Amino acid sequence: MTSPVTCEYSDGIAVVTIDNPPVNATGQGVRSGLLEIVGKIDSDPRVRAVVLRCAGRTFAAGADIGELGKPPLPPFLPTVVEAIENARPPWVAAIHGSALGGGLELCLACTARIADPNAKLGLPEVTLGTIPGAGGTVRLPRLIPLPDAVEMITGGKPVSGARALSLGLINVLSENDLVAEATALAASLAGKPKPPVLLDRPCRNAEDIDWSETEKMLAARARGAAAPLEALEAMKDSARLSSHEALSRERERFLRMTASEQAAALRYAFFSERQAGRSLTSINCEPANLDLVGVVGGGTMGAGIATALLLSGSAVRLLERDAEAARTAHNRVADMIQTSRARGVISRQGADEALARLVTTNDDKALISCALVIEAVFEDMRVKGEVFSRLDAIMPRRAVLATNTSYLDVDHLSAMTADPTRVLGLHFFAPAHVMKLLEVVRGKKTGDRTLATGAALARRLKKIAVVSGVCQGFIGNRIMSVYRRECHRMLLEGALPDQIDAAMRDFGFPMGIFEVQDLSGLDIAWAQRKAAAPSEDSAEPAMRIADRLCELGRLGRKTKKGWYDYGAGEKRVDPVVTLLIEQERAKAAGAARMFSRDEIMRRILRVMQLEGQLILDEGIAECASDIDVVMLTGYGFPRHRGGPMFMGTSEGHSLRGPRPR
Ligand code: COA
Repeated sequence: MTSPVTCEYSDGIAVVTIDNPPVNATGQGVRSGLLEIVGKIDSDPRVRAVVLRCAGRTFAAGADIGELGKPPLPPFLPTVVEAIENARPPWVAAIHGSALGGGLELCLACTARIADPNAKLGLPEVTLGTIPGAGGTVRLPRLIPLPDAVEMITGGKPVSGARALSLGLINVLSENDLVAEATALAASLAGKPKPPVLLDRPCRNAEDIDWSETEKMLAARARGAAAPLEALEAMKDSARLSSHEALSRERERFLRMTASEQAAALRYAFFSERQAGRSLTSINCEPANLDLVGVVGGGTMGAGIATALLLSGSAVRLLERDAEAARTAHNRVADMIQTSRARGVISRQGADEALARLVTTNDDKALISCALVIEAVFEDMRVKGEVFSRLDAIMPRRAVLATNTSYLDVDHLSAMTADPTRVLGLHFFAPAHVMKLLEVVRGKKTGDRTLATGAALARRLKKIAVVSGVCQGFIGNRIMSVYRRECHRMLLEGALPDQIDAAMRDFGFPMGIFEVQDLSGLDIAWAQRKAAAPSEDSAEPAMRIADRLCELGRLGRKTKKGWYDYGAGEKRVDPVVTLLIEQERAKAAGAARMFSRDEIMRRILRVMQLEGQLILDEGIAECASDIDVVMLTGYGFPRHRGGPMFMGTSEGHSLRGPRPR
């Protein structure tokens, strides 16, 4: 078998190339190839310096994640890193694409580093539930200031080439030809004494960190994820112990964390996200051109979708009902682009150009040249139906028509058009220019070209596409409806909203279900309940409490009262709500009982898993991991737990069995 590591020699400089597609992961073949070459070079007196580079799209992007769940195979990365660090000639890392995890640890063993300005450098192990395992926590704070190293390692976020230069992580930014410049840098180091290796240097700016503050901040941010705090402990070791002691403790932590349940869950999430939407990418069909896209409706969702499109480079025609509404929509999009600029998503010039690609109008003929039109008007079948009939009448036959709906029947809407094959649902999540998830709703008659266009749109917007069949609420909202109802049922049995919210936060959700309802407003779900069950008798008793809150005008944060009282500027439990719950509980003739946080979460997970199983059985979702991706990326399910379906399988639950009541 040919080695993924090769070497070429010219004028005393060896250029070592790792070629292990797709991302040059430091799997076993790469490790043994590198170790062999280090030995060969060390014993070849003609070699005066070495360049380490990678072929293809990126520098080494870390350990082979597929290997991480299995017993590690020798040679281990620390051995390779040590060999490079102690090599006879100087090694120079030439970094393009991403140098992540083990890839960056190889760079830290080198005498110098040069990177492309677009390169990304980082130690993202915490995002996979573990910590660096080949010296990252020990060498990085000896190269860059310790507080910055702590931020990079506990946060897992890569830095840009420019930031790496300002931190001292790299010696120079490449201007033009990375490998040629790396070769020149290597030649300039040849024959000179090597500087002390990082392990022999003290940590930089070690006095500038407040460990207990950092720990508090991380504990709050981690929401139960163990790796960031474990990484912090490793950094403390790095600052307080000898390098060699810190290295051996790091390795022990790495092995323990890599074998943890959380790490398994996070690896599963990594691969599940990349697996999602595969059926779409395998469609052999040319998608519609997305350089010019129409959006109907410039409210929060429509403006968010328009912003996402503009940021991706598309031009947008945004249709509103009159000139005044079109102006408001224009301002809304301008604000969103501005916020994206403030978040560093886009440059000032990029923001100006994006806004210049927007045309807002109240003339529906302006849409005619768009190959795709996304409707994002009020969530009401009658209103959406009118828009669709009109679009069907004016849009050329090849144009694809999409509805951004979170609940409505896409088949019903498509039946209002002459050609239902050109209709699909696109369920965006608010804010649409920020949230990563896109449910691509495949109607019974949706055609391949239409689906291929949905996939192309997701790719263009850098979103994770999950395919859903048609049902009330698709994958995500359907699961959310059942667990929300289960939470309401627990109210009737004795739990209180703040107990349920606390249990969910404890589990790792950023917010509990009642806090979420207060944030998004109680009125939309109320309207849906009224439409579905107008008579009180047929209404779900557990939802009566929510109905009564709405009747009292308590619609959530926007009215300063909902499940909680926000009148004093902060969230407070409101005795009025507690009383109301007790009244409804008495009507339901249920005796109140105590709930533990554990029981609350078991109930919530169980209904999520059962509904997920139904969604699979009905063919709404293509696979269980798609359901998890939806919950992780759209509904705040804690990533370090993998998702409800993952938990159901890994805990050995039978997902079938009686549905609770
Ligand atoms: N190990 C194994 N496979 C990996 C991998 C890794 N470290 N990183 C990426 N891949 C695979 C992906 O699963 C995908 O495979 P597929 O095409 O069969 O689905 C392929 O490489 C491309 O990855 P993708 O993420 O789709 O490409 P991208 O260009 O959007 O992003 C990276 C490239 C490197 C930025 C991104 O893949 C990444 O962040 N990888 C993880 C890096 C990491 O965490 N390393 C530390 C490990 S401890």
